[in-house]
Amino acid sequence: MVDHERGSSPIALITGAGRGIGLEVCRQLAQRGMTVILTARDPGKAEAAARRLAGEGLDVRPQTLDIADDESVFRLAAAIEREFGRVDVLVNNAAAYADWSELASTADLQAAEAVLGTTLFGAWRTCQIFLPLVRRSAHGRIVNVSSGAGSHGDQQFGLTTNGGAPASYGIAKAALNALTAKLAAEPGSSGILVNAVCPGLTATAPGMEAMGARPVQQGAASVVWAAVLPDDGPTGGFFRDGRPLPW
Ligand SMILES: NC(=O)c1ccc[n+]([C@@H]2O[C@H](COP(=O)([O-])OP(=O)(O)OC[C@H]3O[C@@H](n4cnc5c(N)ncnc54)[C@H](OP(=O)(O)O)[C@@H]3O)[C@@H](O)[C@H]2O)c1
Repeated sequence: MVDHERGSSPIALITGAGRGIGLEVCRQLAQRGMTVILTARDPGKAEAAARRLAGEGLDVRPQTLDIADDESVFRLAAAIEREFGRVDVLVNNAAAYADWSELASTADLQAAEAVLGTTLFGAWRTCQIFLPLVRRSAHGRIVNVSSGAGSHGDQQFGLTTNGGAPASYGIAKAALNALTAKLAAEPGSSGILVNAVCPGLTATAPGMEAMGARPVQQGAASVVWAAVLPDDGPTGGFFRDGRPLPW
């Protein structure tokens, strides 16, 4: 086994990090001195994004990861175990989106299954497969990037707003919050802080600023907060900008 506590920088792994909030989370964690494993399902996208951050003087390594695919997740976990022996920070950022008008009563269930397959089961699979490596960290942190869409407390995008749309995305994020609580409650998570975080409405697609979305740096900072919590920080909660959100 690799002697992982001897003077090496913390190892952070971020899913779905070829663009958007995931990419900016990589930048901010690397700026804090972490070795960041930037993953995307398209290898070219991972390499281009990591090259960009490496050009800023940051220690960012590209890897291919499709969280919907067992083999892909197992392969990467084995490679990281060989190279680093542990993971200190796991950020489950990748998600799939539903049609914005999708209703629970009429949703195409195949499409809904695909949303849950990535957003809930992809994060769940990644947690299961990487947990043995996170348990080897002295300060393990797991951050599940959730959304106010899965909350009763979000007046703009929450579970009971917008006439119930989009259904599968909100259901997947509510379930991701429940997964977070369940994982945090396990005895095997002792010493690991597992939290869900909403980045807030963040401008990661054209036209989002016009909807009042905030800059990607700010959305990512909400996520980074949970990745760098002190050892006596909270676990099993749901937060935005460091403040608890009901769900
Ligand atoms: N932006 C917001 O306003 C907002 C608000 C609340 C919550 N969130 C949450 O924040 C996170 C990031 O959102 P974002 O706005 O940055 O979205 P985004 O730009 O669409 O990023 C989502 C990422 O997930 C990746 N992905 C999808 N399926 C995947 C799979 N099977 N395996 C690996 N990666 C996969 C996508 O990769 P490809 O590039 O290959 O498609 C993409 O990089 C998501 O969890 C989202 O639900 C965002």
